[in-house]
Amino acid sequence: FRLAIFASGSGSNAERICQYFLNHDTIEVVLILSNNEKAAVLEKAKRLNITAVHFNKEEFKAGGRVENVLVDNEISHVVLAGFLWLVPAFLIQRFPNRIVNIHPALLPKYGGKGMYGRHVHEAVQNSGDRETGITIHLVNEKFDEGKHLFQAACAIQPTDTVQDIAVRVQVLEHKHYPVVIEQWLQNG
Ligand code: GRF
Repeated sequence: FRLAIFASGSGSNAERICQYFLNHDTIEVVLILSNNEKAAVLEKAKRLNITAVHFNKEEFKAGGRVENVLVDNEISHVVLAGFLWLVPAFLIQRFPNRIVNIHPALLPKYGGKGMYGRHVHEAVQNSGDRETGITIHLVNEKFDEGKHLFQAACAIQPTDTVQDIAVRVQVLEHKHYPVVIEQWLQNG
């Protein structure tokens, strides 16, 4: 399996995934792509000796540079790890049921356009919910609405700050995302 990871930010999930699949017998992270040229994930890619690709909106269209790079590198599956743009139809069509994403909440709650990062944790905190967590799901044309592959929950206290929640959720992300990807790929 040849993976391309899309990320827009710090890339801590992307980094964990790359480390997890280093020297793996059947799964290789081939590319890390970002829509944000300042994203720390591109620096991490270089340190991990993985091809880092920055692209802009124009290049993220059918027949654009992103599609060409994915085809040229014979990518088989796409992993979103903190990627903030909606995946365009051409990518869904080229990789049907082969694009996976992680969302830092228990979907269908706290999902959808604009619900990312601290916005999610603020909504959870304000809701009075006593738990939150992660959802790993296949990607379709709408934000955060694809088939769920995995969920894990963690407790939250009323005294938790947004940062407390974010840290606790990120521990779940780093623990589970690489393993869920491996099982998803190997179970077909
Ligand atoms: C994580 O919260 C993830 O759930 C969401 O975006 C964030 C990515 O963080 N999709 P990082 O860039 O992997 O550190």
